[in-house]
Amino acid sequence: MNTKKFYIESYGCQMNVSDSEIVSAILTNKGLQYTHSAENADIILLNTCAIRDNAEQKIRYRLKELKKNKKENNTLIGVLGCMAERLKDQLLEEEHLVDIVAGPDAYRALPHLIEEAEDGKKAVNVILSKEETYADIAPVRLNSNGVTAFISIMRGCDNMCSFCVVPFTRGRERSRNPYSIISETKNLLNKGYKEITLLGQNVDSYFWNGDGAKKDLIKSKADNSAAINFARLLQMVAEISPELRIRFSTSHPKDMTDDVLKTIARYPNICKYIHLPIQSGSSTVLERMNRGYTAEWYLERIDTIRHYIPDGAISTDIITGFCAETEEDHQQTLAIMEKVKFDFAYMFIYSERPKTLAERKYKDDVPEEIKKRRLNEIIELQQKHSAEKIKSQIEKIHNVLIEGKSRKSNDMWMGRNSQNAVIVFPKKMHQKGEYVKVLATHCTSTTLIGESIVDNADFAKKEFIKEHHKIKPSNQ
Ligand code: 5AD
Ligand code: SF4
Repeated sequence: MNTKKFYIESYGCQMNVSDSEIVSAILTNKGLQYTHSAENADIILLNTCAIRDNAEQKIRYRLKELKKNKKENNTLIGVLGCMAERLKDQLLEEEHLVDIVAGPDAYRALPHLIEEAEDGKKAVNVILSKEETYADIAPVRLNSNGVTAFISIMRGCDNMCSFCVVPFTRGRERSRNPYSIISETKNLLNKGYKEITLLGQNVDSYFWNGDGAKKDLIKSKADNSAAINFARLLQMVAEISPELRIRFSTSHPKDMTDDVLKTIARYPNICKYIHLPIQSGSSTVLERMNRGYTAEWYLERIDTIRHYIPDGAISTDIITGFCAETEEDHQQTLAIMEKVKFDFAYMFIYSERPKTLAERKYKDDVPEEIKKRRLNEIIELQQKHSAEKIKSQIEKIHNVLIEGKSRKSNDMWMGRNSQNAVIVFPKKMHQKGEYVKVLATHCTSTTLIGESIVDNADFAKKEFIKEHHKIKPSNQ
């Protein structure tokens, strides 16, 4: 019998990359075989994103392209994830673009859906679950570098930010059994992995009290009870091995507790890097966004982060041109960026999403050209801050985990420091997966360039390099 081959493309966030690994596990367990190329596949799956309209447009374009080829080779095409959940059977029934539609909580049903589609039946499952965490499934690591891996610790989101479609596409928040997280981490460590990223829409709201049920009053007393909150989970994972680095994403400012910060500070193997989406610097806009904090409150959180983790890096997400955003609101966003000086930011133009609170309640009334101008101003300011931050890392020694070879040179390794800065340096005798001390000597706009320090004698280089270092332009 011919083994059926499947191929998956992931769009959007890290959570989708992680979900694609779960999907691969489910399908390989049923005897299907993963293939790296769409051309060889009997089944092509797109794991999709619905967060902004342009993300969906990109996927539609790809689906149309795949459909053209399909006429020749009869491949089955499936759409998974957030866009599947949002559009349900529209892509199948009205637009005839796909054969299979599976939402984020329906991946266990995929083998069955594939059979249905093969029989020419309607293959749709977009049922959202309050319990599904895929805790028992050991993900098949796709396109893995063998050094870093994602571990999903929770699913869904209960926050209801007014601009966001995620609560509708990924459903209610639920946390995964911590012991399954620990055992997945240990397995990865045994296979030689050196870094894991704990993933969730809002990791700080992780809560387990035996059945994964939603947090209640015990959350604040979690230290005195059997309940496990995010700080406890971080601690448990960090204690598995000092050789294993821990990252996590994404944090919501309103849920990031001092306990989490103290835990990050206490364990050298928990990376000193926090992604803390601010969205806007205007408290009026934040209120309309239903974010649950003010600009002042966010700044206070930043001060607390810097107090506990003075050497930490902070990145953020910013949305510009949200409903009724005034020029003054926009100036407040620029002002808060000036105050915080983020190491890095993902910056977006507001894109109205169907069903969200903002779509129902507010008008998307900032003209497109104003949105674009504001975005450009935000990007320009962030580029200035990012450049300042990266330059400040020159002449410092960084503890770098080697992830693989540099994209631009076969003779160079690429790795990251604890603060998530990318560093490239000559390979010498080092190996992938090794921790190396690297002296940063110069930089581009996004990458540090350095030299590994093999023994104490190499520290002498530092003095030499002080004389010679210069900032290279960004196109190098
Ligand atoms: N329009 C623009 N950006 C959005 N994001 C979420 N929803 C929207 C939207 N409707 C951004 C937020 C979030 C990141 C993942 O995507 O900044 O933090
Ligand atoms: Fe969306 Fe807000 Fe949940 Fe993040 S926290 S996924 S922005 S609703």
